Amino acid sequence: MTEHTSARQDKSSRSYWLMYGALLIGLATAFITLFNNPIQSSSLPKLDVYGPGAESELCQQVPKLSPKNKKVEQFVRERVDSTEYHQEIINKLSGIIQIPSESYDDLGPIGEDDRWNIFFQVEDYIKASYPTVFQTVKLDHANKHGLILTWEGSVPPSTAKPILMLAHQDVVPVLSENVKDWAHPPYDGHYDGEIIWGRGATDDKGYLISIIESMDLLIKSGFKPKRTVVLAFGCDEEISGENCGRPISDFLHKQYGDDGIYLIMDEGSTGIQREFDQSFAMVSVAEKGYLDVGINLSSTGGHASNPPDHNVIGILSEIVVAIESNPFPGAVTPKNPMFRFLECAAVHAPVSSFPMAVRPKLSMAAQGDSVSQEQLAQTLDDMRYYFKTSQSVGKIHGGVKINAIPETASTLVNLRLAVETSIAQVEAHYESLVGFIAQKHGMLFEGFHSSCNSSEKRKICLFGIDALEPAPVSPVDTESFRVLSGTIKNVLKPLGTDNELVVTPYLMPANTDTKFFWALTKNIYRFTPVNLVHNLNRAHTTDEFIRADEFVREPLFFASLILNADDVVTL
Ligand SMILES: *[C@@H]1O[C@H](CO)[C@@H](O)[C@H](O)[C@H]1NC(C)=O
Ligand SMILES: *[C@@H]1O[C@H](CO)[C@@H](O)[C@H](O)[C@H]1NC(C)=O
Ligand SMILES: [Zn+2]
Repeated sequence: MTEHTSARQDKSSRSYWLMYGALLIGLATAFITLFNNPIQSSSLPKLDVYGPGAESELCQQVPKLSPKNKKVEQFVRERVDSTEYHQEIINKLSGIIQIPSESYDDLGPIGEDDRWNIFFQVEDYIKASYPTVFQTVKLDHANKHGLILTWEGSVPPSTAKPILMLAHQDVVPVLSENVKDWAHPPYDGHYDGEIIWGRGATDDKGYLISIIESMDLLIKSGFKPKRTVVLAFGCDEEISGENCGRPISDFLHKQYGDDGIYLIMDEGSTGIQREFDQSFAMVSVAEKGYLDVGINLSSTGGHASNPPDHNVIGILSEIVVAIESNPFPGAVTPKNPMFRFLECAAVHAPVSSFPMAVRPKLSMAAQGDSVSQEQLAQTLDDMRYYFKTSQSVGKIHGGVKINAIPETASTLVNLRLAVETSIAQVEAHYESLVGFIAQKHGMLFEGFHSSCNSSEKRKICLFGIDALEPAPVSPVDTESFRVLSGTIKNVLKPLGTDNELVVTPYLMPANTDTKFFWALTKNIYRFTPVNLVHNLNRAHTTDEFIRADEFVREPLFFASLILNADDVVTL
């Protein structure tokens, strides 16, 4: 209310003030009187909505959503509880881990580089493991190794938009010198009775097997979908995504068009976790952006006995210091899904576990107060990169000989963009920092949108590589988010002795293949339905593993989601 009044005051003109000033002062006095009156104040909006235990409209939780078709649900649940099924699905995961489908940064195009041929083995393996699925669904190939499985529903996709689940067949390579560091060889798919070990166990072959298994279970239950179900398996998520991720998206876009998909599920670096002594199901509804910045310097060389005061190595050092001395500021703003997470924690976490200092500032930050937004980011310093653009100087190169003045020097900086920012803003920041140093040293400056090809000898050039804007934030006030939340509540359990599993929006600092799918739906959710406290995420490093008791239940989650999404088709 106060916010609304002040906004109107901003717009008012001088004459308005002269005419109505007295009236406004009167109103303000009345307002203050009202506000200080404890009896009346309950009719005003609660200013302490972030207070402990506040009966708040923030972070509203939906009830458990259980599929209407009890026969199908029971079939799936009984199967998932059986020992025979546990053996089978664990063997399937172990078997696919044994195919080392590594993707390499220097892979040539599919069809030219033979290293892609390993993906034929993955496809054959999936087909052999799921004969029922492949008798039922239509299989399409996008650029040879992108696999698209379509289980057609009885209602046309124009009326009931298909549900899409993504996974990738490729894994991060294991360097041969690191194999000895693994407790079990990375491509044995060793199962020790409790844990399945190996590259891809969590990223992302466990997810792949889980979603295809959910389809297998539903087909075997006799279920016939109204809403089309699509599974798509990329082959290069860990590199560019250009060889499978983009072709799959192009294929689906041709089929279903803009906004033609109901929701997308993909791997997440988030799942069921505990923060502030409360269990959360963290659904990533956005991803940070990405940018690699290259900075190249060149100058005239010469003999080291007659050097200039500053050569390109010195000037590049000055640039690196300037970059690190001018980090991007952090701010906790309502545009960031992490703001929703903090609201959820404020409302649902135990009172003593959520920092008291955060509550009043959240309320101010929600109203757009930039000082509070910055202070919050400082208070929550251990989570800082959820609230700011990160920058990391990753490579530096310069000089060939000790007695020669270097002619070139270069560096590469990796940035992960905060959701509120854009590539253009980050580029402008770098141009102003580096442009100033170029000017100081009398060098030509070529910014991001030049071609870096000036014939000038003394110059500094900036260029961007692998740029990706922050992902659009998926809305959470939609039917599809309620269906997902209700499914989570129904199937997954809180950790330890916690009473409630709170579903919360979250932010993913890394990127997934969903970067190609923005046009297909606004409803993109990155979420792994396992307890990440037990499955300490060792993706991309040694000893990647998944706990069997958690993994075997993943298909129940995906099958329930398909069923619940089918139940809301109103035909
Ligand atoms: C920048 O320098 C690197 C390393 O010397 C070189 O490989 C690259 O081609 C240069 N890029 C541009 C745009 O000049
Ligand atoms: C630099 O490249 C641009 C476009 O790629 C071209 O138009 C321009 O003539 C080039 N300049 C030089 C000096 O080569
Ligand atoms: Zn992955």
